[in-house]
Amino acid sequence: MHSSLITIEQHILEQQKAHPEATGILTGILYDIALAAKIIAREIRSAGLRHILGEAGSINVQGERQMKLDIFANEVLVRMSSFAGRVAAIGSEEMAAPIFEMGPMRHGKYVLIFDPLDGSSNIDVNISVGTIFGIYRRKSDDGREATMEDVLQPGKVLVAAGYVIYGSSTMMVYSTGSGVHGFTLEPALGEFLLSHPDIRIPERPQYYSTNMAYERWWSEGVRRYTAYLQGMEAEKPPAALSSRYVGSLVADFHRNLLRGGVFYYPLLYKPGKAPKPKLRLLCEAAPMAFIAVQAGGYASDGTQDILEIVPETLHQRVPFFVGNRSLVERAEDYIRRYG
Ligand code: AHG
Repeated sequence: MHSSLITIEQHILEQQKAHPEATGILTGILYDIALAAKIIAREIRSAGLRHILGEAGSINVQGERQMKLDIFANEVLVRMSSFAGRVAAIGSEEMAAPIFEMGPMRHGKYVLIFDPLDGSSNIDVNISVGTIFGIYRRKSDDGREATMEDVLQPGKVLVAAGYVIYGSSTMMVYSTGSGVHGFTLEPALGEFLLSHPDIRIPERPQYYSTNMAYERWWSEGVRRYTAYLQGMEAEKPPAALSSRYVGSLVADFHRNLLRGGVFYYPLLYKPGKAPKPKLRLLCEAAPMAFIAVQAGGYASDGTQDILEIVPETLHQRVPFFVGNRSLVERAEDYIRRYG
């Protein structure tokens, strides 16, 4: 069959066949996410028309201004994933604490963590945004309420992860540990069709992606690493790199996944303030790291593998370097040498 005629549902089912012990529950969660993504995509597309752009007026747990579509996307994902009792806990960037409801969730075997609408400050200027998700197996016995221990698991034990990019087309990219596969939403059919089977990060990278406006707050290591990427250090990068930065992690990550490159959001040392990372370990960095590794890349916090970090809190933030393994390891090297 031509790859473009394979729907995401068929593909997920095929992947499940490789695991005869599978109960189909993970498959169900991925279906739910794909359906939620279609609903969110439709809402984003029509947002301008319906005059629902703008802030909802509330502030989320990170102290950030919350847009209406963040709340909408969060609600869609919570509703789609909680009703069938497939997941025991849900953690979201938009919720202060995870949901561990009794009822059907008590028997859930998995934990679902997501950032429902990443890059939401970009929505009202018509720039791509995304949904990021990670799925863990619960650690505690089912039949009772899940615990924080079920939520606070390192990325290396992710069972599946992925993202949806709401761009010039809507794409869902996911991995269950057997490669990375991308599906493009065919709007007339309302189906995600396999468009990018077995994605591998190209060996020859093209881009570096970072917010250069923060250079004055970077460490010496990050500054010199950037000079290396620009070809201004004695040692040269593996290719002449161009710069691209959208400011939506999903968009920056997706471009670099397909074209090769490195994205980084390092620690910022602002005068008079404790150094602070921005991106969230559980909702953003770990799922993207899982995808990167599955595509032949790597992700680090500048000193260690992102997938090895055991989270202490749901909203823990980390410095984040992700992309071609050689470029991310070089960042670790510069940080080790220069701080
Ligand atoms: P938000 O959801 O608040 O728009 O944040 C987006 C995140 C992430 O998607 C992106 O990589 C990063 O923040 C951009 O931050 P800067 O604007 O500081 O570069």
